[in-house]
Amino acid sequence: MGLSSKHYPRTPTYLLPCVLALSFFSLTALLLYKVDDVASRTGTVVGHNLEPTPWHVFPAKPFDEETRQRRAYKIIQCSYLTCRSSVSGDRKRLGFATGDSKRQDCPDFFRAIRKDLEPWKVTKISKGHLMAAQNYAAFRVVIVGGKMFVDWYYACVQSRAMFTVWSLLQLLRKYPGLVPDVDLMFDCMDKPTINKTEHSSMPLPLFRYCTTKQHFDIPFPDWSFWGWPEINIGPWQEEFPDIKQGSQAVSWVNKMPRAYWKGNPDVFSPVRTELLNCNHSRKYGAQIMRQDWGAAARSGFKESKLSNQCNHRYKIYAEGYAWSVSLKYILSCSSVALIISPQYEDFFSRGLIPNQNFLLIDPLDMCPSIKRAVDWGNGHPNEAEALGKRGQDFMGSLNIDRIYDYMFHLISEYSKLLDFKPTPPSTALEVCAESVLCFADDKQRTFLSRSTASPSQTPPCTLKSA
Ligand SMILES: *[C@@H]1O[C@H](CO)[C@@H](O)[C@H](O)[C@H]1NC(C)=O
Ligand SMILES: *[C@@H]1O[C@H](CO)[C@@H](O)[C@H](O)[C@H]1NC(C)=O
Repeated sequence: MGLSSKHYPRTPTYLLPCVLALSFFSLTALLLYKVDDVASRTGTVVGHNLEPTPWHVFPAKPFDEETRQRRAYKIIQCSYLTCRSSVSGDRKRLGFATGDSKRQDCPDFFRAIRKDLEPWKVTKISKGHLMAAQNYAAFRVVIVGGKMFVDWYYACVQSRAMFTVWSLLQLLRKYPGLVPDVDLMFDCMDKPTINKTEHSSMPLPLFRYCTTKQHFDIPFPDWSFWGWPEINIGPWQEEFPDIKQGSQAVSWVNKMPRAYWKGNPDVFSPVRTELLNCNHSRKYGAQIMRQDWGAAARSGFKESKLSNQCNHRYKIYAEGYAWSVSLKYILSCSSVALIISPQYEDFFSRGLIPNQNFLLIDPLDMCPSIKRAVDWGNGHPNEAEALGKRGQDFMGSLNIDRIYDYMFHLISEYSKLLDFKPTPPSTALEVCAESVLCFADDKQRTFLSRSTASPSQTPPCTLKSA
């Protein structure tokens, strides 16, 4: 029994267009409502519709879209319509021209990967482990068949989430077809949370930027290797050569024979507070300066360029609220790094050796300890210069290719421990380079583009067995 007008010849002819128009309008209204509803429930790489991490609260982000509709449109466009046309899922394996003979061994400190994953060597990692780790995570990354899916739980401060997700997408780009399927939980805030004592019965696997000897958290390269637009720090493959060149502007003898620190002392860091007491060039041989990021931003970051900060023979590293991204820049200077005995480890700091590529400062005897290091170096200029150079060489050997190799091996070893086959949860959305760029503002887009990886001509370095 059809309902078309043909069977009801006496239906007034104007009724059909009216009904059609009415249905069209209600459908449109429903669609708009639906779009708005979906958009207002979709978490994004910039933090739309996400609360800050409750374990580290920060001010909510301002979004630059002017209206609600524009925001909804952008979320739908970038989250749901952008990855379809992309080719990031291309599983074409790389044919390495050079063959296995040219394979390099990974640096020694890559051994830390196995140590970090040791807690799950026997138990393996189950879905239950991941579901429990979710309580501590800002997002979940699932890679299947070379495509990446992200499930968002909380927003991350500034553009950390964007640059971390980007780093993983670039890894997939660099080694197409090589990165195994994986399912992992990530927290993007500073402090490790999986206390070994409290979680001894069931260690939880959680990736973040640092760990300590008392935590199970798994360190992963921090976002700033790909760039930190908020404070104008470029990607590592630009910053390192820049700093290295800057460090050669003044010869060792002409560098200030003092220990220098510049940073933000107001980050609830006991060592930085104590460090302020060492600000006395004659008594302690140290110069401690306050970094005012507000003023730096207003002056276009000219004074805070990292490559202009290598004019002292000694540079102090003091942990902040947790580990600090500044370690890599300090070591890159070829000054002697004076590292105040750290609590936190990041992925590469496990490669540092005291008296070899840095000097350790006693936090309980901080100012005199700095003074002793400065006096030693000024009394042994050749040794001090060589020590500083070894610190710089260590950072030089940690080029961006090695960093991708670290990520590759960490993810590969981790993936071997999963006792289930990763599949994206229904709430996760595919994320690709284009969708991240779609959400990025102009400045972020410039920084992201500068750190784009290209498919590797050589295989990853070889991870030495055990
Ligand atoms: C880990 O937890 C134990 C027991 O609650 C506590 O005593 C210890 O201070 C914690 N360790 C860290 C590094 O927070
Ligand atoms: C350290 O001393 C110098 C020189 O006296 C001064 O300019 C600087 O502001 C001091 N630093 C801090 C953090 O107070």
